[in-house]
Amino acid sequence: MQQVSANQPIGIFDSGIGGLTVAHALVNLLPKENIIYFGDTAHLPYGDKSAAAIQAYAVKITQILLQQQCKVILIACNTASAVAYDLVREYLNGEAIVMNVIDPVVYWVKENCLHKNVGLIGTKQTVSSNIYHRKLTELHLPISLRSYATPLLASAIEEGFADKKVMDALLEEYLSHQGLQDIEVLILACTHYPVVKDKIAAFFEQKVNVIDTSHIVAKTVAARLAEHNLLNKEGEGAKRFYISDYTESFAQGARRFFQGAIELEHYPLWE
Ligand code: DGL
Repeated sequence: MQQVSANQPIGIFDSGIGGLTVAHALVNLLPKENIIYFGDTAHLPYGDKSAAAIQAYAVKITQILLQQQCKVILIACNTASAVAYDLVREYLNGEAIVMNVIDPVVYWVKENCLHKNVGLIGTKQTVSSNIYHRKLTELHLPISLRSYATPLLASAIEEGFADKKVMDALLEEYLSHQGLQDIEVLILACTHYPVVKDKIAAFFEQKVNVIDTSHIVAKTVAARLAEHNLLNKEGEGAKRFYISDYTESFAQGARRFFQGAIELEHYPLWE
């Protein structure tokens, strides 16, 4: 890898507020790290887009984060991790560390879920990419994985409906799916979903271990930084938020995670 230093920021991106769940977990774990967050609100939701479109957005955002001297590019979106991680890594060509939100979770499942019935919910693109299944199969693990697409959830969360009745109706509809009935663990394979984790756990009457993957990812980022001697020990924990289109719901979501005045900078991907 080319020369990077500990005081450079960590670049994080997602289609909208979802990646803030990961950014928040990371800031709690590593408060001195400087963070640059990019919410691609102009192209939300990613989950229904083609792989080619998501790859184009991901590379463009990576270019912007690289111009901002990020030492790490964290793809804080399962959908983009599923379809664009390899391309982003190729594009970066060692100029920064690139991380996705899928590999840390696969590793966690390997360590914690042997012989268990594991359910997974995510966007259409994440589920149809079959990436979790493929990665677990490559490891020859005795784990039964049932994946189910829950496409409207991310948009409803982004829209600020997390605490509304419509969310209860969506969860009831999606989580009643036959394949999810005898699961012991549920992986929230979309970074938006931790926002409604309590409702999901309540739907399953607390009998299913619902996994908020943001903490797993944050710990993996911390370990990778430590491994490369890139933990920022002197930083002030500065945060910048870019969005490709201004939305009030993103502003509210950002305030929910990071209290206080949050300045959103409009940064269109293409002028
Ligand atoms: N939060 C993202 C994910 O983890 C994207 C959701 C969307 O934009 O559809 O998949």
